[in-house]
Amino acid sequence: MASLLIKNIKQLVNVRVQNELLRGAALAEMPVIEDAYVLIEDGIIADYGAMYELELKVPHLPKDNIDVHGQFVLPTWCDSHTHIVFAKTREEEFIYKLQGLSYAEIAAKGGGILNSANKLNQATEDELFNSAYKRIQDTIKLGTGAMEIKSGYGLTVEGELKMLRVIKRLKEKCSIPIKATFLGAHTYPIAFKENHQGYIDSIINEMLPVIANEKLADYIDCFCETGFFSAAEMETIVNAGIGFGLKPKLHINQLNSIGGIESAIKLNALSVDHLETMTDADVKLLSNSNTIGTLLPTAAFFLRMPFQPARQLIDSNCAIALATDFNPGSSPSGNMNFVIALSCIQMKMLPEEAINAATINAAYAMELQNELGSITIGKKANLIFTKPIPSLAYLPYSFGENCIDKVMINGEFF
Ligand code: NIG
Ligand code: FE
Repeated sequence: MASLLIKNIKQLVNVRVQNELLRGAALAEMPVIEDAYVLIEDGIIADYGAMYELELKVPHLPKDNIDVHGQFVLPTWCDSHTHIVFAKTREEEFIYKLQGLSYAEIAAKGGGILNSANKLNQATEDELFNSAYKRIQDTIKLGTGAMEIKSGYGLTVEGELKMLRVIKRLKEKCSIPIKATFLGAHTYPIAFKENHQGYIDSIINEMLPVIANEKLADYIDCFCETGFFSAAEMETIVNAGIGFGLKPKLHINQLNSIGGIESAIKLNALSVDHLETMTDADVKLLSNSNTIGTLLPTAAFFLRMPFQPARQLIDSNCAIALATDFNPGSSPSGNMNFVIALSCIQMKMLPEEAINAATINAAYAMELQNELGSITIGKKANLIFTKPIPSLAYLPYSFGENCIDKVMINGEFF
């Protein structure tokens, strides 16, 4: 058995004996151990505690041990919402936006989701795999230890299946856990602009049976938004997905509140993601449900939209998580450290709340809470080792500074 002892940890963060999805005041509670050790066996957290208990609790010290004096150790971030498989970046649209063009004008120039779909359908599976693999390695270096990835830039039977097969290969090749989400209902492709029912039929009758047969997805998603999919259309698509064994994780209330929250809760969604535009009634519905609200502040930041009402959601007892929404259109960054900083700076979340929302609650938002999200015996040793820092609050406070010294995945430094 390969054993490794990490000793003299300045603070071991998010130490939990039991799993619990955190809501309300509990989100601000951060259990830590000062001057701590962690024992790792075969890539799994085998024990932890305060240094003064080490000799008693670990009588036979392993030969391999590392002294991390001054450093904090945290569970890695769980990024529960990404579109990390894409063919090309879209900085030309970014420039158009800076020059004052509207969303509609950019769309008329061939921009937006359809632009990405066009590029993706021209790319090979290997090209898509290689570029996404590189992006994932880069995000692991930034502390991400699990990721959800969506399709949704295919928008044809062939394109959607190609994306999902790429995600399946990424699951097999990457050292972090990956969950796959089918987002055929991202937007209506041009061929079905006047025939919405035709595209919905294609999703249900042509895409879903193959996806289920080849086990290409864990979840089903839909962009419920004015000009995209209505709440009723989402219900039809998601109910079909549920019939094929996929749980819903949904894009809701980014730009408008059109009944998506109510439908998502009726569909027993694992999570509702975005939530820039929430009515009081939406907040109340979410707070009385088991559905997790996943906030994507870097999308609001990049699109210069009002941020998600994190304080109202937390104070109303909603269970919330944080994610990057990494995609070439609205959030071209997979940096969870910046997501956490922005959550504190712009949404007034406390550092403890943001870190819990990006670890244990985010693990719940991708059903990985038994493997990741906290320092717990039996969970994976996917850990962030900070540089020497004065406090936990220093992480979001010093936004833009790279405070990460090393990242460990499955007990090995990455
Ligand atoms: O989550 N809102 C829908 N989809 C993406 C953006 C897609 C794009 O612009 O390529 C999002 O923000
Ligand atoms: Fe998204």
